[in-house]
Formats: sequence, C-alpha cells, structure tokens
Amino acid sequence: LSRESFPKDFVFGTATSAYQVEGMAKKDGRGPSIWDVYVRIPGNIANNATADVTVDQYHRYKEDVDVMKNLNFDAYRFSISWSRIFPYGTGKVNWRGVAYYNRLIDYMLKQGITPYANLYHYDLPYALEKKYKGLLNHDVVKDYADFADFCFKTFGDRVKNWITFNEPRVVAALGYDNGFFAPGRCSKPFGNCAEGDSSTEPYIVAHHLILSHAAAVQRYRQKYQAKQKGRIGILLDFVWYEPLTDSKADHRAAHRARDFHLGWFLHPIVYGEYPKSMQRIVGERLPKFTKSEVKMVKGSMDFLGVNQYTTYYMYDQHVNKNQVRGYQLEWHTGFAYERNGVPIGPRAHSNWLYEVPWGMYKALTYVKEHYGNPNVILSENGMDDPGNVTLPKALHDTRRMNFYKTYLIQLKKAIDHGANVTGYFAWSLLDNFEWKIGYTSRFGIVYVDYNNLKRYPKMSAYWFKTLLRRKKH
Ligand code: GCO
Repeated sequence: LSRESFPKDFVFGTATSAYQVEGMAKKDGRGPSIWDVYVRIPGNIANNATADVTVDQYHRYKEDVDVMKNLNFDAYRFSISWSRIFPYGTGKVNWRGVAYYNRLIDYMLKQGITPYANLYHYDLPYALEKKYKGLLNHDVVKDYADFADFCFKTFGDRVKNWITFNEPRVVAALGYDNGFFAPGRCSKPFGNCAEGDSSTEPYIVAHHLILSHAAAVQRYRQKYQAKQKGRIGILLDFVWYEPLTDSKADHRAAHRARDFHLGWFLHPIVYGEYPKSMQRIVGERLPKFTKSEVKMVKGSMDFLGVNQYTTYYMYDQHVNKNQVRGYQLEWHTGFAYERNGVPIGPRAHSNWLYEVPWGMYKALTYVKEHYGNPNVILSENGMDDPGNVTLPKALHDTRRMNFYKTYLIQLKKAIDHGANVTGYFAWSLLDNFEWKIGYTSRFGIVYVDYNNLKRYPKMSAYWFKTLLRRKKH
C-alpha cells in the first residue's frame, strides 16, 4: 500500500472538531455552546471532565499544522465553533474568534495543507437553546444559514471545501432519543432524562438539520460558489449493518437499519424524500417537506462525507407496540456482535467500536449502488485506546497501525470496484476530548500528555508518513 495505490489527486488528511481540541472555551469572547452547559451537569461526562482547555489547539495550531505537514498529509478537517464567531448565535460578531480562524487557515495554506472547514460539530450556541429550544425550532434554519453565509463571505476566499454538518444523525439520536449528547433530551424510559419526547423530537430535529444544511448550500451556490469556486457537502456517519442470518427477515431488518441510519439524511438529499420504510413506520410523526423544500433539499451536495468505523450484525426483532416509541426502537432490530460464537471483530476501547475492515468495503459499495455513486470522501475512520495508557508504551500503537492499513485496503478495494471515493481522513490527529467518555479514550495518531499538553507522534503517525511519502522523480 502506498500513495500510488490510490487514484491521482486522492486527498489524505486528519480530522478534529472545535470543541474537542480548541480549548479557550470561555475566553477571547467565545459564547457557550450546548456542550459547555451539558458537561457541567455532574455525571454527564466521565470524571466530570470539560473541554475548557482540552489540547489547546487555539494556541498550538502552528505546532499541529507542522506535524501534519511533517507526516505528509495533504489536508486538515477542522470545525468552526459557531459561538466563537457569534457568541449569541446571531447578531454581534466576535472578531477575536474570526481572527483565530484566519490565523489557522492562513498558516495551513502557508504550509501547503488544504482546509476542509466543517460548520457544525455538535456545538449549537447555548443562546439559541435558551431563546427558542435550539434545533427543535424552525428558526434555527435561518440563523444557521446566516452563520454559514458569514463564514463563506469571510473565509471562502481561502476555504474551498465546506461541510455543513457533521453526523446529524448523532445530533438527533444522541441528543434527543437517548440523551447521551447535548442537549441531553429523551423520554424517561430511555435514559436519565425526563424532559424530552423520544418518539417525536429526533425527527423534528433531523428535519431542521436537513433544512439548515440545504439552506446553507443554497446560499453558497447562489452567492459565492461561482466566484470562490469551492464545493460543499455534508458528513454522515454510517455503521455497516450486516444481516445476522440469511433469513429474509434479517435482510429486511438490516436494510431498515440502514434506512433509519444513513437514509434518514441521504435519501432526502439525493431523492427529495425520507426512505419509504421510515415513512411507513414513523407515519405522521415524520415531518414532510413542502414542494419548495424538496427543491431546495434534493441535490444539495457536491460531495458526501462518510464517517465509517464499525459494523454490527442485525436481526429482526419484534417490539411490543405498547412500549413507548423511540427512534431506535422503531427499527425493530436487535444488534449482535458475534455470529455462531465468533466475534464480529476485536473491540477497541470504545464500547461501540468493533474492528471490522470488510464493513468499510460494504458501506462504500452500498452508497455507490443505492445513491447514484456520489463523490465521497471517507471523512472519519480510526480507533481508540484507553485514556490511561502512558508514555512510552502508548506510542507503540501497532494495533492502530494495523487498523488503518486493513481499513484502507478495503477502501481501495471499493474504489477498484467503482466507488467514487476521492479522499480519506483519519480520526484523529490528536488525542482529545471524547464527548461522554471525556479523556478516558485516546483516538489520536499523536499522543497528548495531559500534564503539559506536549505532543508525541505514535507509530501509526509514522506509518502514515511512510505511506504518504511522495516518490521523487
Ligand atoms: C463525530 C465523532 C467524533 C468522535 C469520533 C470518535 O461526530 O465526528 O463523534 O467527534 O470523536 O467519532 O468517537
């Protein structure tokens, strides 16, 4: 495997997100996001950690960009914190926040690293949550489009790859079905929270996310694209769902799961409506797109980002109708992590992450076959170690090296079989704040010593460096 194994101009990068790496959460004029509030509720995060400092990329961005360059990466996927630009969500601009992203972008370009700017990575300005219940309110569509518009206008002379949302499914499901992520809403039976309604809120939120995405794409296309010559897309997480057995019922169950997981967002964007299975099962609780919304949503991406880590077996499962409905329950599926006593793959530190390289091939092939072979970037892939691994042992991450290698072989196989994949981003450049499990997980190819924030590339980082070396002619 080498750079030359992939198509010409294939892009290799790493990815992070603002709240997970920036730090300076309460400084330089940034307003709080829903995560700043969520992490302060005792019990929400492992060891009640926050990302007030995390790995301080706000001050160490030069060092981090230098590392990417040294490792031969082409691109960096970062996110722009909405509340660092608009502390109240709308209105007053925090120019110190704007200056930070200008510094970061300019330095990347100086070092030959291509920016991929993501406008939303879970971090809604808290002011909008307070003002109108955030993503539950249709008003968010315009406010988000205004924020996106400001970013296109301000950074679009240099940023040519825009991402509207990262993993909107996670926002809707973990934020409103089981309450694992901010703003932590759900119906009582599903979690510790009692204020939400898991049978309606995930669908409302998802609908607003799709409309926000499409409204931002419309702004970009109408006002900026011709002049700035960039492109815009969305990132969706896609677990591969493999039928547990050969039965028709399990095949249908796996397909249903893919509809509820990927199709929920990709179907409207490609075909202008929700998947038929969702329409049938969710019924009138599933919002509808008006005619003019369909026009705006359908075709609203120049490329698709797929975040692909893992694979589960799915089987058909009867769910008692009297049980309270929740998004996940409506799939009528069971999850399995072994078949005939054979594990699907070794588990990483995170409890959801099983190492299953062949799922990468199947997921990419599915997108090719069911969604018209769009231009895809594999926008996240990686694995974590426990947070307490220490130096120097933590640097010998042979398992991670092997993870990247075996997944990339499957990605290449998908390309060789016709999938239009044009880039790959490893999650993550650095160990960082891993949401609910805080600092008890390390996804980086670069180790961070949390005592002094020093960075140490792991073996997997050097593996990429060799892979990505350019042959001298
Ligand atoms: C995402 C992910 C990342 C995680 C990574 C490992 O939404 O892109 O949640 O932020 O850190 O996927 O779990």
